[in-house]
Amino acid sequence: MRCQVAIIGGGPAGLLLGQLLHGAGIDTILLERRSRDHVLSRVRAGVLETGMVDLLDAAGVGERVHAEGLIHNSARITSDSADFSIDFNALTDRHVVIYGQTEVTRDLYEARDATGATTLHNCTNVTPCDIDTDAPHVSFTYDGQSHRLECDLIAGCDGYHGPSRQAIPAEHRTEFEKTYPFGWLGILSETSPVAHELIYASSPRGFALCSQRNANLSRYYVQCALSDSPDDWTDTAFWDELRRRLPAAVADKLIIGPSIEKSIAPLRSFVCAPMQWGRLYLCGDAAHIVPPTGAKGLNTAASDVAYLSEAMQKYYDTGEKNRLDSYSAQALARVWKVQRFSWWMTNLLHRFPDQSRFDLKVQEADLAFLSENRAAQTALAQNYVGLPY
Ligand code: FAD
Ligand code: DHB
Repeated sequence: MRCQVAIIGGGPAGLLLGQLLHGAGIDTILLERRSRDHVLSRVRAGVLETGMVDLLDAAGVGERVHAEGLIHNSARITSDSADFSIDFNALTDRHVVIYGQTEVTRDLYEARDATGATTLHNCTNVTPCDIDTDAPHVSFTYDGQSHRLECDLIAGCDGYHGPSRQAIPAEHRTEFEKTYPFGWLGILSETSPVAHELIYASSPRGFALCSQRNANLSRYYVQCALSDSPDDWTDTAFWDELRRRLPAAVADKLIIGPSIEKSIAPLRSFVCAPMQWGRLYLCGDAAHIVPPTGAKGLNTAASDVAYLSEAMQKYYDTGEKNRLDSYSAQALARVWKVQRFSWWMTNLLHRFPDQSRFDLKVQEADLAFLSENRAAQTALAQNYVGLPY
């Protein structure tokens, strides 16, 4: 089996890269560990930067996000002492679009099917091999048989737990990590959202977020203990806790209903450098993780894909490797700014178990300054709507 670019991982990063390369006449084979149904059932991110929407357009899959995505020009931040909106549109002339990662992934799978490109699901033992030679390949098992996929380049888009990052020799790889002493418990519910604006709520009981997917589908999160499991939380317990963390006027308007999905995600900041080795290039969660507070995980996977797809196109158009060689440095420059923003938003809005009275006062002052200061709001807005690629 042979192709120009072997893609490991059929999440949003691998699929989007595949579509952009296909548009440039570059052929790919995509290997995914799970079934398509499994990939499409994972409820994750919901906020798209306009840069990501532009990329979906460039990949030819923008139709539904434009028809069904919700334009959000602002978001609200609340706490015991502050309640204000960040007006993205007034501060940056830009906005974000609410459109679920499940929908992005569905659009991309449909488009990939239409191109006739090969996608193999339920692959096991997927391993990038000979990546430091001019003839790399990926070995894997499919349908009970061992296979060898020969290629020019390998894109490791296999998420945080995938094999690609591990293929970079440990002595050449530096991993930067910060874990947080809490997680997010999220539910999806077929109810109308409590407000059009997303609400980021800091409260003495911990953080809460009111988000949405559409007019009849709400997504809510509460900060929870790492030791919690979704089964510990009945729907009633979730709604009660959410209400306690919101301003009373918002809590009163909350429409509750049964959850149709409930899961817990631990919070982590992580970066692997470099993001490439030989002919292997890491993209998205394979190379970096952010805590979800700034809504940056999916969007940063997309900015990696933008850089990598352009570098690969240049290589195939001209034979020049210079863009490929500088991929990691280019991507990491943006990744670290996104890491800083996500870490800062997380610190601003969560309760930490070891927070001193001093720490709480500094956090309160940080929120007060943000509520009063246009420059601080502009900095938040610029990061939230997305830094330039
Ligand atoms: P992934 O979506 O992880 O895709 C990687 C793909 O590789 C998967 O399909 C996986 O099955 C496949 N794979 C793994 N191992 C192998 C293998 N051995 N062989 C072949 N294929 C393999 N971001 C936000 O902005 N907001 C959120 O609310 C949010 N919630 C999240 C909740 C959870 C539980 C998680 C894990 C992430 C969340 N994120 C969120 C982050 C966001 O969803 C990710 O940043 C985004 O999915 C990254 O896309 P990706 O394609 O790089 O990785
Ligand atoms: C959602 C997730 C986030 O992490 C965030 O900051 C905003 C929205 C969501 O799932 O809708």
